[in-house]
Amino acid sequence: MPTRVVRVKVLFDARARIAALLWLVKPRVVGGDLGQATVRVVPRDLRRRVDELDATHDDEECGCDWRHTCASHQSMGGASHVIARDGRYGEVTEDDVKHFVRCVGGDAAGVVVSTSATATNLQDGGGDALDKYNVDWMGKYHGRSRVAVLPKTTEELSAIMARCHARNLAVVPQGGNTGLVGGGVPAHDEVVVNLGRMNAIVSIDEDAGVSVVEAGVVLEELESAVRARGMTVPLDLGAKGKCQMGGCVSTNAGGLRLLRYGSLRGSVLGLEVVLANGEVLDLLRTLRKDNTGYDLKQLFIGAEGTLGIVTKIAILTPRAPTNVNVALFGLDSFASCVELLKLARGRLGEILSAFEFFDRESLDLVLEQLKGTRNPLAKPCPFYVVVETSGSVKSHDNAKLQAFLKIVKNKRVIVDGVVGKDEKHAFALWTLRERISVALKYAGAVYKYDISLPTARMYNLVTTLRARLAPQFGSGVKVLGYGHLGDGNLHLNISCAEYTDALERAIEPFVYEYTRDERGSVSAEHGLGIMKAEEIIYSKDAKAVELMGAMKRALDPRGILNPYKVLPAATRAAALVPMSKL
Ligand code: FAD
Ligand code: MLT
Ligand code: ZN
Repeated sequence: MPTRVVRVKVLFDARARIAALLWLVKPRVVGGDLGQATVRVVPRDLRRRVDELDATHDDEECGCDWRHTCASHQSMGGASHVIARDGRYGEVTEDDVKHFVRCVGGDAAGVVVSTSATATNLQDGGGDALDKYNVDWMGKYHGRSRVAVLPKTTEELSAIMARCHARNLAVVPQGGNTGLVGGGVPAHDEVVVNLGRMNAIVSIDEDAGVSVVEAGVVLEELESAVRARGMTVPLDLGAKGKCQMGGCVSTNAGGLRLLRYGSLRGSVLGLEVVLANGEVLDLLRTLRKDNTGYDLKQLFIGAEGTLGIVTKIAILTPRAPTNVNVALFGLDSFASCVELLKLARGRLGEILSAFEFFDRESLDLVLEQLKGTRNPLAKPCPFYVVVETSGSVKSHDNAKLQAFLKIVKNKRVIVDGVVGKDEKHAFALWTLRERISVALKYAGAVYKYDISLPTARMYNLVTTLRARLAPQFGSGVKVLGYGHLGDGNLHLNISCAEYTDALERAIEPFVYEYTRDERGSVSAEHGLGIMKAEEIIYSKDAKAVELMGAMKRALDPRGILNPYKVLPAATRAAALVPMSKL
């Protein structure tokens, strides 16, 4: 896929620097009324249509007040889960902030504190230096942290964690803040540890095909760097211009290339992790083979920041394909999409690198919300599929693709189709699939579900839910289906004007029960975060959840790392070692 270069950002602004200094000279009570995470809805008039690509948007360059002057920064409103603050955690004091500033070597840019006297308030439009750390990409989950620390080295982070551990301060690790389940933002007043300044590419080994990076390296940055040496990152997703390698590893992100390169779990060779008490765990190896006992790095991959903070990553960066083709097909049924997948697997074989589907409702939303997009197919279809092939011998790859096209036409599996004639055209075809989530964000409120289901029956959930919601909610509520068909991963999205209890009750727990009955997964790739911590039970055996609690207890006995996330409240509580025993 074509890549764009995005400048590495330093997450800091002048207001935050002044606030940090003020904090040091003026005693103040922090924390305030933190009893409940509240529900906030951003007024509708703040919602604007956006044609800017988020991935290319640059906060510092734009210099905007992110809620008012720049459409890319507008929160779309949303409801946070209401979870009581756990009173066992300490509250950040002036001394803690002074300590954090010392930890980062006195560099004021490394500690951002709230610029408003009260907790952030999107409704009164107050504006606060902490807003971008407190609110997630969707604008759905809002925390009330008063301080974000941005270490530059593992040693600095280690010292910060040692302090948080000693003071029993809850911490939320944060990467690019593009997560879709509220895992990367505080639920209450947790200290935000943002990895954005640990953004060095440590090494790129062309012979071994392995790169070592700090956790804060943005995915697209790494892709550009390795591309320059003929390699590629075995991961690609719509958030590539913002998401960090540490965040991707911590969510075990799937994305658009999983079909080709497999799960990140297989591509990550080593990790360096800072544990809850500040100790550094060195699992950073670049070996392809290492069977010396338990593979501990796997514990941290997909742990969503609940077991440790990833600081460095060794990852396979294979040779980049030199010949890429992209085709968009229109089909008249979901069964035809599945048939096309079977044919693609059989006929394209080793050059098949992506197989993505979306329905007509998803396409309509993209065309409506994202300026510059157009449907290249003449015949309207209920389903669309993007097929990508990647190889290294043009004549061979193209001959295979042509043979595949002939068969699918002759067999009438497809209604219509187009092959990208150059890189720009291929990019435009990919945009229709890759930016559905952005279109959804601009369209209003969205309930997002990310589900693994048996491939052939996957779309039944979309039609069943449509039939369930239509009588009560009418056409104002749209049910969309798209996703990684080649991986059996459905993205089920319900787009509406605003979040309501009635609609939520009509969707949940129905969607989770349906998934459980199909023996599917309620989180195929986005993780559980705060959204689905209680819902883990729909996909995991009680014994497995209990064992997860034991791991949490072993690695984070005080439960300070990303509390309220991933595990159900009862499991988290059982995992805590009583203060008297610590
Ligand atoms: P954040 O959002 O900052 O954090 C995510 C989680 O990881 C949080 O729980 C956080 O606490 C934890 N975390 C972050 N950094 C660290 C660290 N260094 N150490 C320990 N814990 C850490 N996901 C897919 O799987 N496939 C997709 O195709 C896909 N497409 C997306 C498209 C768009 C437009 C968007 C907005 C998101 C998409 N996502 C996708 C969601 C995906 O989870 C994120 O994009 C990405 O993996 C998160 O990276 P991040 O740096 O933004 O992490
Ligand atoms: C995608 O595949 O587009 C992402 O996972 C984002 C989403 O689900 O909306
Ligand atoms: Zn996805």
